[in-house]
Amino acid sequence: MKRRIAVIGLGQRIAHVLAAMAEVGWPLEIVGYADPSPVGVPVLHGAGLSEGNAFASAAALLAAGPFDLVMIGSPNHLHLEHLDLARRAGFPIFIEKPVVRTEEESLALAATLDGGGPPIFVGLVMRSMPIVRETLKRVRDGAIGALISIDATEHLHPEHGGYLARNWRRRQDWGGSFLLDKVCHDFDIFSCLAGARAARVASFGGRAIFQPQSPARSAAHARHDAGWSGAGDAFASDMDVTDHQVAIVEYANGVRLSFHANTNTALQERRWYIAGTQGTLIADLVRNRLMMRRTDASEKPERIDFGERTADLHNGADQAMARDLAAALDGAPFPVTVEESLEAGLTVMAIDQAMASGAVVDCGSIWKAYDAARHVR
Ligand SMILES: NC(=O)c1ccc[n+]([C@@H]2O[C@H](COP(=O)([O-])OP(=O)(O)OC[C@H]3O[C@@H](n4cnc5c(N)ncnc54)[C@H](O)[C@@H]3O)[C@@H](O)[C@H]2O)c1
Repeated sequence: MKRRIAVIGLGQRIAHVLAAMAEVGWPLEIVGYADPSPVGVPVLHGAGLSEGNAFASAAALLAAGPFDLVMIGSPNHLHLEHLDLARRAGFPIFIEKPVVRTEEESLALAATLDGGGPPIFVGLVMRSMPIVRETLKRVRDGAIGALISIDATEHLHPEHGGYLARNWRRRQDWGGSFLLDKVCHDFDIFSCLAGARAARVASFGGRAIFQPQSPARSAAHARHDAGWSGAGDAFASDMDVTDHQVAIVEYANGVRLSFHANTNTALQERRWYIAGTQGTLIADLVRNRLMMRRTDASEKPERIDFGERTADLHNGADQAMARDLAAALDGAPFPVTVEESLEAGLTVMAIDQAMASGAVVDCGSIWKAYDAARHVR
């Protein structure tokens, strides 16, 4: 029987997730959507899917249930409102990351999680990537000994940076921050690798690329359609998020991490260099390749090529997540919990707070508030 799906925020991302679900064999029917200007429709059509009926509001859509899954792909500032509506309707929910946009929203959501309700699956898609699963498994199994430190990067091509500078993500009140929207995935995995929460963070960043007089300007920056509430010019918009940022993190167990992100690079990179007491592992997420070597090894490093490289750089992760989602609806555990998603978001929010204040932020009070909220019914 076909699974009945409702979509709140039919943008590019949810359309790609739906296309991946169809590709891996989900029997699905998109019953309808709530979205004032559904930019993901062409993606659905390209995948041979119909968008179903347009509903005037999320509430009207949810009233047309029952649904097997409600999928939320709206801009980040609407997540909590849409999640609340969907939870009240009682159907299983898939919501894109970041699950919410601010610390206040994180605590508000955390406070309601003990109260039952439908399952919530968060689209931290890296959790489903085979290369990430292998990396986590090896580090957890002690293949590189005890973890000491991590160096990580996220460097984007000008096309991608120009899109971020024109799309709704350019504004904090819609997207949260550059780091929150783009790399909450990575910080979720870093906490898993470290096996601890962030204890102290510092960060520097700003806008030095997307400025009116910037010599960086090229045709590539305007290549992708800016979508909902888009701005015309990446170099003269009302952007108030960073276009490059660095951060350092010390985890509660002493693991240390440095992170470097830039949105206008000629050499794309998303790479984690993971150093343990007895070995080193590099996960190259762009090329989908893992390299590992023991410190006592005399032979060359082991290399695994995971293949499946795709233009969106998700490298098969969407299809893997689609399988995980189908299994989760049948009762299997989903690779990430809402709590873990909230913790990844709060870590990035602490980093942004450190950047804004110019001081090292001790995360203790954030975790205290979060843990207190979690026990409130
Ligand atoms: N997991 C990933 O790798 C990944 C990748 C990209 C985006 N995302 C996330 O997916 C979400 C959507 O991002 P996107 O790139 O698809 O953006 P998008 O701009 O393509 O889509 C957003 C959609 O929301 C719609 N919308 C705006 N206001 C609305 C409202 N009041 N009610 C319902 N719909 C409304 C817009 O019209 C648009 O169609 C974001 O949370 C983003 O962070 C995740």
